[in-house]
Amino acid sequence: MTRIAVFASGNGTNAENLIRNLTCGKVVLLLCNKPGAYVLQRARQLEVPTIVFSREKLEDPDHENSLTGILKAHKIDLIILAGFLWKIPEHLIRSWPGKILNIHPALLPKYGGPGMYGERVHKAVLQNGEKESGITIHIVDSLYDHGQIIFQAKCSVDPSDTPETLAAKIHDLEQLHFPKVADRYISQTFKDQAV
Ligand code: GAR
Repeated sequence: MTRIAVFASGNGTNAENLIRNLTCGKVVLLLCNKPGAYVLQRARQLEVPTIVFSREKLEDPDHENSLTGILKAHKIDLIILAGFLWKIPEHLIRSWPGKILNIHPALLPKYGGPGMYGERVHKAVLQNGEKESGITIHIVDSLYDHGQIIFQAKCSVDPSDTPETLAAKIHDLEQLHFPKVADRYISQTFKDQAV
């Protein structure tokens, strides 16, 4: 069985969707950088163990109780970023090469990079008069919102849209596609592991 750690920072609708609906792997750990984030409650209700960590722990490549040490102790095969807002350090990318996925609420390479998350993305899309937006699922590399794109889905941006209505369209796309795309990636990447 492919063992998955989900990283999240906030509300956690995507984390919950993955926990409930992945079929080719199992979310065995939920990691969060914000002690009060609602995603922690969602995970606990679904009986997924949670860990809150500091930036120091994330950036420490060595110690047993660093994040790397914890992920290794839990035998994590794949990391999925589901609304996680910190940059992933090089040492994690080296330890899980091609095995960290991220979802972004826009059509990368547009509207990505530091500071581009949540409502800020939708506001920028609207301010620029874009006719469409969407979601991107990609492999994480050492640059923000940058690695190989494995999936995109689009929605229209209408003149009447506000950041809230656009966020709702994006949310629907995320709910519909994220577990299916992750499942497909897992089955291609971990062919030899039975569920
Ligand atoms: C999602 O829309 C996700 O695409 C976005 O944060 C939201 C988290 O919602 N991620 C980013 O902006 C990453 N740059 P959630 O906490 O309800 O899953």
